[in-house]
Amino acid sequence: MNEAPLLPKNIVLVGFMGCGKSTVGRELQQRLSYPLVDMDQVIEQRAGKSIKAIFAQGGEETFRDMESELLAELDDSSAPRRIISTGGGVIGREKNRQLLRQLGYVVWLHAPLAVVMQRTKKNRDRPLLNTDDAAARAESLMAERQPLYAEVAHLKIDTSGLDFSELATGILESARYFFTGHL
Ligand code: S3P
Repeated sequence: MNEAPLLPKNIVLVGFMGCGKSTVGRELQQRLSYPLVDMDQVIEQRAGKSIKAIFAQGGEETFRDMESELLAELDDSSAPRRIISTGGGVIGREKNRQLLRQLGYVVWLHAPLAVVMQRTKKNRDRPLLNTDDAAARAESLMAERQPLYAEVAHLKIDTSGLDFSELATGILESARYFFTGHL
């Protein structure tokens, strides 16, 4: 007899830089006691250098290959249920988008451009925004990526008017419904 297919089980956070994926991930980790995989952090630990240095030395493709490799590893049905916080560009590759859907409940954290610029301006660690006109760069990347986030997400939340605790509560309620069919 065939076994019933396993339900996807992780909570996966996607969205543009500065939308709060890492912070919301930590909040969810505290509430659920599931392990948190912050993909950018794991990539930095493995490489032994910062994302900025990976981009500077190997170019964006090197970083994207590391990101895709890690995502494929996370698609492991024997692993415990986890919270996975992704980098903003993970949705660029089609294979990654497939994997994200397979991994679990995909939550798109969204914020308007002005909020993203406010949240990212102090931090120079994001190579894609280290340009003369970061706002124009962010605007075009956002426009390019919106349909891709929409393609993978089960839930979209505008993060601009909510604090991290409220966001976590909203995510947990809708994730419970997704996983069990009960509110
Ligand atoms: C990137 C977002 C970053 C990091 C890298 C590339 C992107 O992560 O993965 O700098 O392409 O949007 P955050 O979204 O956590 O800032």
